[in-house]
Amino acid sequence: MESVVTEKFRSLVEVLSDLEAINHQAASFFVNASRDSIAAKNRFAVAISGGSTPRRLYALLGAEPYRDRVDWQHVHFFWADERCVPKEDEESNFKTAFDTLLWKVSISDGNIHRIRGEEDPDKAAGDYEEEIKMFFGISGSPMFDLIILGMGEDGHTASLFPGSKALQETIRIAVPVYLEKPNRNRITLTVPVLNNAAQVLFLVAGDSKVKAVSEVLGDGEERKRYPAGLISPVHGSVTWLIDRKAAGGLKRIRQ
Ligand code: 6PG
Repeated sequence: MESVVTEKFRSLVEVLSDLEAINHQAASFFVNASRDSIAAKNRFAVAISGGSTPRRLYALLGAEPYRDRVDWQHVHFFWADERCVPKEDEESNFKTAFDTLLWKVSISDGNIHRIRGEEDPDKAAGDYEEEIKMFFGISGSPMFDLIILGMGEDGHTASLFPGSKALQETIRIAVPVYLEKPNRNRITLTVPVLNNAAQVLFLVAGDSKVKAVSEVLGDGEERKRYPAGLISPVHGSVTWLIDRKAAGGLKRIRQ
């Protein structure tokens, strides 16, 4: 699987042939990250995203050969964001992960920390924050072992959208977000939480992402205008797995 790797902004950017290659590389990344974290801390706390890109990743992790390489009993699933819908709704990020992965692996219910999208957004965000604090036993910002993110055409990530006041949040761990279009509340982890992760893995594919990728990973100063461009873990690493289509606008990738 030919790929081009480069270092940019303390990120590792790997350009792979297509979406399938991205998701296989992400599955290997997940397996390795879980092994290292469980060996070091006897747990692997991962926050995952919704959207279409990572669906195949979740399906790969729920099947051989990847499934048996993960010690699921020591894995804790959280979400980077959630839509404010019931967990049975097709829009639910929990439902996406449950249908493609969670029901197929041997993981305790107590290890699945879903955001209760069916509840009032403020209450759901507050309850999620308390659950995260209980899990990490912290008063500050939790350190997830891995956060898996996507990026929209507008450079949003999780449910942090350009111009959103959620981007200014520096105290709360999770906040509600109201979107005009589509008319849908969401709940999202905040920038300080994403930037406190041990590892962040971005999965981005398709030519609709060319502009956002070229500005977030390009050499210009525009990156900070995009929420995804704000993600630069203080103590951790960022790995971008992008396909050739999405990388089309990158002037050069140093090998
Ligand atoms: C969500 C995701 C969102 C997603 C991007 C990219 O809940 O929708 O968290 O941030 O990662 O919108 O979505 P695609 O993978 O579908 O392009």
